[in-house]
Order: sequence, then structure tokens, then C-alpha cells
Amino acid sequence: MNIQNITIFDTTLRDGEQSPGASMNTEEKIQIALQLEKLGVDVIEAGFAAASPGDFDAIARISEQVKNATICSLARALDKDIKAAGDAVAKANMQRIHTFIATSPIHMEYKLKMTPEQVIKKAVEAVSYAKTFCDDVEFSCEDAGRSDVGFMKEVLDAVINAGATTLNIPDTVGYRMPSEMGAIIKSLHEVVKDRAIISVHCHNDLGLAVANSIESILNGARQIECTINGLGERAGNAALEEIVMILRTRKDLFATYDTHVNIKEIYPSSKLVSSITGIDPQPNKAIVGKNAFAHESGIHQDGILKHAQTYEIMSAKDIGLDQNSIVLGKHSGRHAFKDKLIALGFSLKDAEVNDAFDRFKILSDAKKEIFDDDIRALIADEITKIPQIFELITLQLSDCNPGGVPSAAVSIKYDGQIITDAAIGNGTMDAVFKVIDRVCGVSGELRDYKVDAVTQGKDALARVIVKVIFDESKPAIMGHGLSVDTMLATAKAYIGALNSYMSMRDGLRSVHQKSGANI
Ligand code: KIV
Ligand code: ZN
Repeated sequence: MNIQNITIFDTTLRDGEQSPGASMNTEEKIQIALQLEKLGVDVIEAGFAAASPGDFDAIARISEQVKNATICSLARALDKDIKAAGDAVAKANMQRIHTFIATSPIHMEYKLKMTPEQVIKKAVEAVSYAKTFCDDVEFSCEDAGRSDVGFMKEVLDAVINAGATTLNIPDTVGYRMPSEMGAIIKSLHEVVKDRAIISVHCHNDLGLAVANSIESILNGARQIECTINGLGERAGNAALEEIVMILRTRKDLFATYDTHVNIKEIYPSSKLVSSITGIDPQPNKAIVGKNAFAHESGIHQDGILKHAQTYEIMSAKDIGLDQNSIVLGKHSGRHAFKDKLIALGFSLKDAEVNDAFDRFKILSDAKKEIFDDDIRALIADEITKIPQIFELITLQLSDCNPGGVPSAAVSIKYDGQIITDAAIGNGTMDAVFKVIDRVCGVSGELRDYKVDAVTQGKDALARVIVKVIFDESKPAIMGHGLSVDTMLATAKAYIGALNSYMSMRDGLRSVHQKSGANI
């Protein structure tokens, strides 16, 4: 049987980062890119190089570190964007430039203010210029879902002649039904034939991104653009894990298709992305939601115990979620801890293992049983590598007596000096934020606060995510904090956001900031 590979083009770091509140710093993007490489995706769209120096830097560093996936940068059909994209991916083993221009009547008339002829000319110029940087050039008809198919055929024909190797058909606003999307791809495939790969990039505004992608495969698409957890602009993009598991689980329908994805890395990839972005998949999300493999009713539990396939079409273990894995505790040694890190897929240097082990020991004093997700959270917390401009040394809180005055005292290290102060507030948390503001000389405005338990139990590790505005003219900055004590996790998260803000302001660290480019 002739098995055809479906190219998995992951855009978590580009379209996924366009999810409200999902911006990531360079170190975080590198960690995700390395995990995507382990997952076995074929192409990593690492960002939009012309958007900001931070985006450029992240793509360039990912290009140096990832060896086994093509690294791609997005570029509008503009010379300056294409040059930035070409320069950013220059050090990658396998490089791709992805350039695009809109082809729908509404976009051409109102956004671009260009005629269809001008759009074709621009598309050809963009592809020709991109070809001077690398052979692998992808072209997208933005808003293809609402474009005239006849016009797209003209555009695609012209860009193939200019050297485009992949032709992407985005349903930019998530408008199409599966049958319509299939028909569009079929019609385009009839003229493209095997002159280039047809790709689709489906948005989820009507909840059809995955269905549209699958229907496109059945009609000739050989590349799917998708993201981990379905992150992405507005309602998101097609979820990578769903596409891959559909192809795998319904082998009866998709016997001739396969991907290079190592499905055991699906759950670790999902966890890494959610802990870095602070955006958890909804509990009932297919494949990676908290409830995806949970069986609540007695009848189902009974069936599962008798034969797993009575109520399960996939096994949690297949996607790397080992519900029966060994739990570590206070008496677990360095060796068992290291084995666990390897089993969870982390490849840390010796010094990093030692650091993580010290943190694990502190945690195991406070928490009886340490689950895989605790360890994942511990490591994810460590990898953000935000410079510790302000470092929390101690936090002391007043007793919460009814009618009492809540207060918080902190010692914070800054520039080699320890500064100690206290503040009162409307509640303990308010007092914590106030005293940190006072010591650090800022006035943060809390825009979002989220706390969740990483695993079960009264002694569960609390993960706090805050979004804070330190400067009205800048977007909210995210901070994470992890501790068995919720207030300590809160203080860490707030100081983490402050450190991110300071290092971005002082140019110590590149942080993604939208350039305002119209994508
Ligand atoms: O949704 C879209 O049209 C895009 C393109 C830039 C590919 O993200
Ligand atoms: Zn998109």
C-alpha cells in the first residue's frame, strides 16, 4: 500500500501566540520548539520575524537549536518582511519562508485597496524574492475560504511558476462547512496536481476547524496547519492532537495516510503549552482535556474494568498520559527523580537536574505525594529563565482574624540589597500586591488572576497566573508562581510579571510584542 505522509505544520508559536493573552518569551518559545521537535512535527512556524526584534530573535535561536524540523517564518508579501524571515531562519538545517496576501474580494477592496491583478503581481514578486533566500517557499491566499475559486486558481498557477512549493488555503475566518472546504480543495487540486503541495489552515470560529482539515485531506491536501490545544487567533486553529488522533484511530478510513508524529508526546506537549501560556484546554476538550479519559458513571467504570474498549476508542497511555505512573515522595532519591524526568521526556543537563532535584526536595517536604503533573509544573516553572531583578526572599502574612486588618511583610532582594517593608490591604492578597508595589517602586494594575491546583489533594501545588499592567501604554504582562502555599505562589507570580516587564523595558530579554502588523 502506498502510504502518503501528511505534513504536520505546527503554528503554535505564531498563530497560537495570537491567542489573546498567550504571548511567550524567547526561552519559552525555544522550549516549546524543542518539544515540537520531539513530538515529530514536520514544520515549526516559529513566528513572524518582521513583527518585532523579539520575534526575530526567537526564530533565529530556534533555527539554531532545532535540528529535525523545518523552521518557518511568516512574512507579508513585502520585501522587508521576506528579508526578515529569510535572515531569521538562515541558520536552520531546513528553512522555509511562508508569505501571504489576501485574495478575497472583501480583503482586496477594503484592506489592501488593490485590484486582483495587483494582488497576483505582488504574490509573484513575493514568492520570487523569497526564493532568493531558500528553496522551500510557502504561499498563502489569506481568506481563501471567502475567495473566488477561479481567481485562486490563477493566483496559484502564477506562484507555482514563481517557485512556490507549498500552497496554503486558509479558512481565515472559519466560515466554511466541511463539504464546502472539501469541494474547494478538490477543485484547486485538479489544477495544481503534483506541481506543489496543497495545505490547509482552518480556523475554528464555527467549531469546524478539525472537520474542515480532515475533509481537505480526503480531497487532496497533504499539509495541515494546526496548533497544540487548538490555540490561535479568536476561537483558535485546528487542534494538532485531534487531527493526528483521528488519522490514527480511524485507520479503517485513513489507511493510506500517516504522519511523523510520535503520539506519546501529545500529552507532554499539551501540558507544556498550557503551563507556559497559562491557557488550559477546556476540561471536555477531545484528547487532552482533563476529562478526556475520565469515566464518571458506574456503568462506564464497570465496562472499562471488564474491557477498556467498551467505552474507550483510544488509550490515555497512547498519548503519553500514564494514569498509573509511579508517584514520588519525600523518600525518593536523586536516581528515581532522574528516571522520572527521563520517563516524562525531559532532557536536562546535570546542573539542571540538580537544581530541579533541590526544588523537588523542598516540595516533597510540603506535599506527601508528588505526581507527574507536579513534576511537569516544577520543570515548566524553571525553564522560563526570567532574570531575577527582584527576588522574593521572605513573605509573612498576618492572621486572618474576622474584623482584623490584613497585612503582609516582604523581604525582596534588589541589586544586592535586601529591602523589607509591610503593608495593609483590603484582604491578604491586596496587602501582598501593595507591599510588593511599595518595595519595588511600581504600581501594577491586576488585570487577571487565576489559581488552580496542579494535582489532587488538600496539599496540592497551587499554580497562580497573573496578568498585570505596569505601564498603561503596554500590554498586560503574564507571571507564573508555583507553591503549595497559594499566597506565596501569588507573590511569586506578581514578582515574575514585574521581572518580565523590567527586563523587556530594559531590553535585557526579548519579549514578543505585536508590531501592529495586519495579520
Ligand atoms: O488565518 C490565516 O489566514 C493566517 C495566514 C497568515 C496563513 O494565519
Ligand atoms: Zn490563521
